[in-house]
Amino acid sequence: MTTYVGLVGWPVEHSRSPQMHNAAFAHLGLDWKYLLLPVAPADVQDAVTGIRALRFGGVNVTVPHKQAVMPALDGIRDEARAIGAVNTIVNRDGRLIGHNTDAAGFLRALRDVGVAPSGCRAVVLGAGGAARAVVHALLAEDAQVTIVNRTVERAVVVAQRSGEHFDVEPAVLPLAATEELAGAIAAADLLVNATSVGMSPHVDADPLPAGITLSPTITVYDLVYSPRNTRLLQRARAAGATAVGGLGMLLNQGAVAFELWTERDAPVEVMRAALVDRNSKS
Ligand code: ATR
Repeated sequence: MTTYVGLVGWPVEHSRSPQMHNAAFAHLGLDWKYLLLPVAPADVQDAVTGIRALRFGGVNVTVPHKQAVMPALDGIRDEARAIGAVNTIVNRDGRLIGHNTDAAGFLRALRDVGVAPSGCRAVVLGAGGAARAVVHALLAEDAQVTIVNRTVERAVVVAQRSGEHFDVEPAVLPLAATEELAGAIAAADLLVNATSVGMSPHVDADPLPAGITLSPTITVYDLVYSPRNTRLLQRARAAGATAVGGLGMLLNQGAVAFELWTERDAPVEVMRAALVDRNSKS
């Protein structure tokens, strides 16, 4: 009998996850299928109950439901609770457990490109859900983190929450503090864009203020994956820095979810090929 998984969100039709997961299921000969599951905000609790009733293997959860699903679950993993968001639900015999695979996916993506985050100095742009996962991942690797956000109050909240789970609290800077930001970036090994700035269709936008110089020794990781070559990545390459796009994190958060559902190693290269194939068509 087919085991179903899918993506719960609103909207979901632009997702690349079905291609990625269905290619992996086919490759391993698993009778599993990944579906798009558009769920309106008012229906989230019913949808979670439906996962149990319909005996789904689990689901991914995306915007705007990553927090709203939490009260309806039977358990939440520490990491997901610390990040404050669930992006993957696993159904184990009717018990629904919430996970967050973004942090692990980010670390795997970094390692895939040969970047060792352990103990590094990192600047993270953004204070939304993606930034929280990245900050959590970096702190777990004993990185020294500075969170930079347009709305500095949101960055303070992320830093304080992180401080409750780790021994050190990240530093915080407003995006407008250009001089301090330039100093933090000059001292950093890693710059992560975890904002939505530069995402299609606003491809000319740059999350980093003009006038800030990137050194050739920094790694710039842009979580934006559409377009693949963002304005920030172009700027990093022009500076001779290492530039990495967001496709790797998309891939690896999916690979971690795949492994949680199926308890099999994810065929990562098959999944990558499926993602890139879709990417070249869009
Ligand atoms: P997600 O959960 O996907 O990370 P989010 O919670 O909407 O999404 O967060 C988006 C991030 O992009 C925020 O850090 C946001 O900054 P604010 O907290 O100041 O809103 C940032 N962002 C979005 N548009 C921006 C812009 N034009 N300039 C600077 N930052 C921007």
